[in-house]
Amino acid sequence: MDYENKLVLAPMVRVGALPFRMLAAEYGADITYGEEIIDHKMLKCERVVNDYLGTTDFVEKGTGGVVFRTCPEERDRVVFQMGTSCAARALATAQLVCKDVAAIDINMGCPKSFSISGGMGAALLSKPELIDDILTTLIRNLDVPVTCKIRLLKSPQDTVELARRIEKTGVSALAVHGRKVADRPKDAAKWSEIADVVAALSIPVIANGDVFDYEDFGRIKKATGAASVMVARGAMWNASIFCSKGKLPWEEIKREYVRKSILWDNDVKSTKQTIKELIMHHSCLEFPEGKAVNKCETVADLGKLYGEEEYCIAVQESRS
Ligand SMILES: Cc1cc2nc3c(=O)[nH]c(=O)nc-3n(C[C@H](O)[C@H](O)[C@H](O)COP(=O)(O)O)c2cc1C
Repeated sequence: MDYENKLVLAPMVRVGALPFRMLAAEYGADITYGEEIIDHKMLKCERVVNDYLGTTDFVEKGTGGVVFRTCPEERDRVVFQMGTSCAARALATAQLVCKDVAAIDINMGCPKSFSISGGMGAALLSKPELIDDILTTLIRNLDVPVTCKIRLLKSPQDTVELARRIEKTGVSALAVHGRKVADRPKDAAKWSEIADVVAALSIPVIANGDVFDYEDFGRIKKATGAASVMVARGAMWNASIFCSKGKLPWEEIKREYVRKSILWDNDVKSTKQTIKELIMHHSCLEFPEGKAVNKCETVADLGKLYGEEEYCIAVQESRS
């Protein structure tokens, strides 16, 4: 996969399922990351070709829950991101999914307690031997590109040292979220510390943090020298951020997202969460719309709420 000059949709738990990735790609995202999936969870899954939807599903044995859904249309741009703390488990997980995705990414940035306590996410940042073990095991055994996503360490020197060590494993690219583990999302991303990493490496760096408008893609690229740019919240709040012509109204994006969730039979919890993020940002969850979304029990209920009943019927009829 080519990592030069790409607009990248960041991994986002609950948000980054297939409908949202397809939406972002429609608006111009070149590379779309899936949400982080924990290796333990993925290893309970079997790969199922879903002829009805035209998707490939990774379905949890026993519960039947879809843990990861992808489709051939996104095969060349979707990145499977996993949470792991073990090379053998990471490899088994990657082997399950690698034929259906463009690349495998290891999350080394998640600061949440469930990740840290499991030795995953940002816990890896202080375990360079384990990082080496996980990345070299994957790179040696897989044909797809392997990458990872890190946060900044306490000092720019520490970040650069770790980035150099990661580069030596043979990863195809490195995504750098310009915040430290203790930083909150409202703290400004430190683009200058991403620039330090870019200057020290020869592999493509994907700069991430505080991109909220199309123009910011150019600004962060100029400030950091990064090969590509990754955006999370800016895309979550308006997926048309990837459009060079400017953003579309958020209500329009919301309706298109509902339609895509119907089309790909998305999990209702994930669909509701994404719509609630939009409402929280642009309006207020306490308003009637937010309350009505809360009451929806199925994606079809959401379709009804947003006047997409005919679309629901058309999708069903096209498949029967
Ligand atoms: C709702 C949400 C879910 C996220 N989930 C993940 C995830 O699964 N994996 C990951 O590496 N980062 C995750 N992140 C972090 C983002 O990928 C990104 O690094 C961070 O939000 C900074 O980018 P931004 O300033 O463009 O929002 C998440 C962020 C948000 C807002």
